[in-house]
Parts: sequence; C-alpha cells; structure tokens
Amino acid sequence: MRATALLLVLLMLVPLAHAQNLGETLQECPGTMTGSTQPQQIHLQMTDDATIMNVMWATEGRATGEVEWNGQTSPSTDYCYNHDMAFHMASMTGIEPGEDVTYRVSSGGDWSDEFTFTPIDTSADNFEWIAIADHGDSSEGMDVSEAIIADTTAQMVTISGDIAYADGEQSAWDGWFNFQQDSMTRIPWVTAVGNHENEPGYEFAPYEHRFDSDGQAESEIFWYSRDFPGVHMVFMSTEHDYSAGSVQFSWLEQDLSTVDRDVTPFVIVYGHKPMYSSNSYHGSEVELRSALEALYVNHEVDLVIAGHDHFYERTWPVAGETVVNNGKDGRFARGYAPIHLVIGIAGRSAYEELDEPQPGWSAYRENSSYGWTRLVYDGDAREISFTHYRIDGTIGDQFILQEAPLPHESGDGFLGVPGFGTLLPIVAMFGAAVRRLR
Ligand SMILES: [Fe+2]
Ligand SMILES: [Fe+2]
Repeated sequence: MRATALLLVLLMLVPLAHAQNLGETLQECPGTMTGSTQPQQIHLQMTDDATIMNVMWATEGRATGEVEWNGQTSPSTDYCYNHDMAFHMASMTGIEPGEDVTYRVSSGGDWSDEFTFTPIDTSADNFEWIAIADHGDSSEGMDVSEAIIADTTAQMVTISGDIAYADGEQSAWDGWFNFQQDSMTRIPWVTAVGNHENEPGYEFAPYEHRFDSDGQAESEIFWYSRDFPGVHMVFMSTEHDYSAGSVQFSWLEQDLSTVDRDVTPFVIVYGHKPMYSSNSYHGSEVELRSALEALYVNHEVDLVIAGHDHFYERTWPVAGETVVNNGKDGRFARGYAPIHLVIGIAGRSAYEELDEPQPGWSAYRENSSYGWTRLVYDGDAREISFTHYRIDGTIGDQFILQEAPLPHESGDGFLGVPGFGTLLPIVAMFGAAVRRLR
C-alpha cells in the first residue's frame, strides 16, 4: 500500500516538473543554486563532425543558455550532477574547416567575452598539437598550463588521463577548468580517461558531465576516435573492460581495421595506463599488454601515448618485449611496431625509482622532470616530429617518425652494390613529388 501511495505522489509531481520554465535536465540541479549565472569554465569540445563544434561551460546559478557564433544562435542543453554548479553545452553548426569562428556564450542573460577558434581542416598539410598526461594544479602543473596557453601555434591538446585530480573534491575541477580557459576557448582539449577520473563517491560522473565526446549530455562514452591531418587518433579507456570479447575490444578492432592509410598514414592510440613502463611505482600494465598489444601490432599502430607513471619514457618499436627496430639517428619508419610513450610529467609528483637495469625495449627515460610533449605532422614529408619539453624550456627527447622506409633499411650495399642506399633518398623525394602532383 505504501508503495502505491508513493507512486501516486510521484505521478502528481511529474506535471509540476514539466511546468517549470527551465530545461527538464536542470531539475537535477538543487533549487538552492541561486548564485551568479555568469559563464565560467568555458571550453570547446570536438564532435565527430568537422562542421560542428560544441562549447561547454558552467554557472553557479541555475539557468538556460545559448551560444552565439558568426551571427547565429543556438540554445544550450543544461544539466547538473551531484555538485552545486549547472553545466551547459551548445553546438556551433555549419562551421567551415580552416575558417575562423568568433563566438560567445550566455546563461541567464549574462554574456561571456568573445573568443575565436579555427576549426581543424583535416586536409591541411600541417598540424601541431600538445600531448600531456597526469596534470592537476601543482605549481609544475600550472607551469605546463602557462606554456600551453602561451603556445599560439598548437591546434589541439590531448590528455592521456589523470586530468584534474579532483578525487571527489569537485571544486578542484572548477579551478582546473578556469585555469585552462584561455587555451580551451581557443583550441579543443581531447581526453582519454584515467583512474583519477573514477572518483570516490562519484565514479566517472564528473568526467562525463564536464567533457563530452559524442555531443550527448550525460553520455557514457569512454572510447572514440577522430581524424586529424595525417593522423587517425584513438582515445581508449584502460579503466573499463578491454579484454577480448568486450564491447571496447570489438570497437577497437573495428576502428583500427577501417583506417584509410592513404588519408591518415599515422595511427596514435591514447590511453592512460602504459603497456610498457620501467618505472618501479606502477610499471608495465601486463594485463593490458596481453589483451591489446597484438591488436595494435597487427593494425600497425604507430604511437601509444600513456601516462599513469609520473615520468618520461620512450620505447623502441617493440612487440612482445622484443625490439623490432632501432631506427637511425632518431628517425624511424612506421610499420614495424608501436613506439610506446609514458608522459605522466605534466605536474604530479615525479615517481623517481626506476627498474634497473634499464630494459632493452626502453630507448630513453627521465625520472625527475616535468613538462609536456609536442607533435608536428608535416604533410609534404609525411612525417611526425615528436619533442619532449621540460618546464625550463629545454628539450629532453625527440624523434621523427616517417611514412617512407629509412634509406638504410632497404639497404646500403643492396644486392652487393655499394652506395645503392644513397640513391634511395632521391627516389623517395621523387616519389613524394609525384604524390604531391597527383
Ligand atoms: Fe597519475
Ligand atoms: Fe593514473
């Protein structure tokens, strides 16, 4: 009887909820949220459609909102989770790759400043981006943030998980987003989820409400891919089931097998925990390696960019702990085996103890520096330059990954002809010129 009475009360409440002026999902927000509706924590959020860019922001008070761009407006979807802020997401549609978009957002009648971004043109010949992991808001983390904000040519930031280290303290996320706003309103930050996004008492809800990879408010998508100039990028979750037969495994297999290498010669997988790490704190995630390494090798993944261990490490192209290739003078040809990177150096306390001796698959490692990495795709040369920067501006490590074979791989002394290899760069240059003419 008691259950029936409760049901009747609930049914009576439904029309009341719909009768309110605010969007239905705003009903989740506590009625006590009467603070400022001035937009804050404003950030772009890429969609899988190059003509649509989403923007997300937060307000202290409950309100509906809108985005205004290039003389058009679109209403926001507004929602909450178990935190006293309202969140808003709106879509800028019909944008042209490569053409600047100026926009601003409002909620409750309060407008933000104007911002401008340039939508990424996937057919461009040049693409530059920054990759970080394990960020937070320590003084070193803020140094990294300031370097990113000062970088006016980077077109995107990727994070391989462990983002704000809120760990249940939701105001930490608010501060983190506000600190990055000068960058995040200008270029998209694209994320893979880490173990610190699985928060005590909240699980992944804050991450899901504050980032959005599929344009659906409150979705639960933790793996997705995007195409950029020359590079297909996969953002996967080491924090969800990835074993053979899992939904994520099937998705990865399907995604990696449909990459068109003529369009995107390179494939990068971002995920939080590393398959290869010689740091003594966490070390190699052996279960992850058993489940996914063969898939990555078979589908010729070029780079796997992880974090979790707070140090820097680059492997040689490696499969099954066996070094497949050593490149030449810091230059590698793609197609042998993935190079694994651990870049958990964006601000959290360094894990200084390393496995000794250094494993054969480990090409370079650094255990007490903080910083970020920067990648540049050159569409003429069809190569990616990778550089690891420390927060003092010095370079720790760098290498180049190219589509064409290295000259020495097809061989000096090929067929017993000395000097044959020296012809190959000329042949390669000729080939590149022909490709450009096509
Ligand atoms: Fe971490
Ligand atoms: Fe982690």
